Amino acid sequence: MMNGAQTVPERPNLAQAAALIRAGQLCAFPTETVYGLGADATNPDAVLSIYETKGRPRFNPLIIHCADLAMAETLVTFTPLARDLAARFWPGSLSLVLPAKPGNGLADVATAGLDTVAVRVPDHPLARELISAVGRPVAAPSANPSGRLSPTTAEQVRRGFGGRVPVLDGGPCQAGVESTIVRVEGERLVQLRAGAVAREEIAAAMGRPVEVVGEDAGIAAPGMMLSHYAPNAGIRLSAEPRPDEAYLAFGPAAEFDGPTRNLSPAGDLREAARNLFSMLHELDASGAAVIAVAPIPETGLGEAINDRLRRAAAPRG
Ligand code: TXA
Ligand code: MG
Repeated sequence: MMNGAQTVPERPNLAQAAALIRAGQLCAFPTETVYGLGADATNPDAVLSIYETKGRPRFNPLIIHCADLAMAETLVTFTPLARDLAARFWPGSLSLVLPAKPGNGLADVATAGLDTVAVRVPDHPLARELISAVGRPVAAPSANPSGRLSPTTAEQVRRGFGGRVPVLDGGPCQAGVESTIVRVEGERLVQLRAGAVAREEIAAAMGRPVEVVGEDAGIAAPGMMLSHYAPNAGIRLSAEPRPDEAYLAFGPAAEFDGPTRNLSPAGDLREAARNLFSMLHELDASGAAVIAVAPIPETGLGEAINDRLRRAAAPRG
């Protein structure tokens, strides 16, 4: 991909990655949640090529990644409650949906023309150094073709895009599922997407409930399409594996002869979240037509894990 005149390094270092993004090119980079496909959020053409490369619908806005709170303050308006959230959870895996500041310089396509922006400061040193070196906010969806499994290693990004996207390699992601998205509405907190920070943790830290948008409220984060995160294999949830299937286990699991991965033999949800996408990638590569997935508790990070699994299992559109 990219322009033919100059060669784009397939494995850029930090300075090269920053130079690519400053020049309006794409570069994938690590965050603590999943790898992001980054572009200069102020450059409409660069942002458009994110949508083209992913095959992502244009109505689905992007999360804008900032090096620090000061950069985020140039883009959106923080209420005292929003500032408390940022102080408590940034850098980290919480994206805040806040009112856009007029004239913030963001490309309209990055926010799909909405009057709010989802912003976060990632908790990965390479990500923050990259954004600082770019010197501008970086728009970054997960670095996978739209609708497919999210990548938690540089190799998965390269494979997903057939080697056409340069990737800054920062090793495997620590959290393994995407950020939690919370909209701040006056004094109310509304979770639009379960993610790497458990809802209970946010509620406890802020001393107030975190509401969940009901299914009947429509798509509150426009990207919350039902079928998403799809491996090639079909998925059966809360199921015992049958012969010829692959098995994604959780906790002390029964013996199974076919391809098996265990999200966490100890039943630890943080470990399970970290392993989720990688193990789905691996079981998918085994060629089994169906992956049976053991039941996973709905508490803590289980909310995000089960959300991703339900959408991986949903009928494909
Ligand atoms: O962990 C993450 O959040 C990763 C890494 C790369 O940071 N990024 C990520 O981006 O998951 P993406 O594009 O796959 O998901 C962005 C989500 C979509 O569901 C989108 O609809 C929602 O954020 N979103 C973005 N802006 C929004 C807004 N103004 N209001 C509501 N939802 C918004
Ligand atoms: Mg995604």
